[in-house]
Amino acid sequence: MALDLGRIEKELGSEELFRELIFFDEAGSTMDLLRLRAEAGAPEGTAVLAGRQTSGRGRRGRSWESPEGGLWFSLLLRPAIEPRLAGCISVSIALSSAQALRERYRLPVLVKWPNDLILEGRKLGGILIELATRGERIDWLIVGLGLNVNNPLPEGARIPPISLSEALGGPVELEGVFVVVFRGIARGYLGFLREGFGPVRARWAQLSALEDGIWVERYGERFRAEVKGLSEEGKLIVERGGRLEELAAEEVTVEQ
Ligand code: BTN
Repeated sequence: MALDLGRIEKELGSEELFRELIFFDEAGSTMDLLRLRAEAGAPEGTAVLAGRQTSGRGRRGRSWESPEGGLWFSLLLRPAIEPRLAGCISVSIALSSAQALRERYRLPVLVKWPNDLILEGRKLGGILIELATRGERIDWLIVGLGLNVNNPLPEGARIPPISLSEALGGPVELEGVFVVVFRGIARGYLGFLREGFGPVRARWAQLSALEDGIWVERYGERFRAEVKGLSEEGKLIVERGGRLEELAAEEVTVEQ
């Protein structure tokens, strides 16, 4: 795939978080390629972008189909925060990416907690967070973002998929989408580091795709619950049988 990296670098040159963009026509998973670099000491802001992935992965051990035409990339962050706050970064980034796509493409993109990007009830993209800790702190945190842009859509997906080109009625330049999403991520991440999670929690309900009543699946158990909001650690607060519970993203799948 021919991608104009020079254009991306030029447009993101003034972006505080942008450092280096490494492109592969084909990768197993950009998560793994970036992890190697993270472990070798690469700086925050390093990104790996692939034309296609042969072993793309999603949340909760699911595979992620990544054919040519989609936006598949990972970004290295090194937030000096406690690991328990990683969920805040994940939600902040999802919200700000959705916001950036809404502004640029005038599409009503929403976020299904913790970090699915939803358009017209279908899945436009998803975010995967992987991290390593050192003592009480995060050593590296990799944000993997997959966005259906011009690619053929997977069949039999849990949530029916949609692509940006389908929503807009024609092909979309990947370079432009990368720049928009990268800026969105940067805004969410740096905003969280500077102002904390309060503003994100306050904004979350406006962009949340979850209606009040949801199905929760946790460790093989399925139950009905009412969405009440987000905790200070980015967990989903629900009411179940008159009691409040906090759901951790790594433990549950939620559905309407
Ligand atoms: C999800 O919705 O489950 C998250 C999907 C994340 C997919 C992206 S594509 C780029 C990066 N590399 C991967 O293998 N996964 C993430």
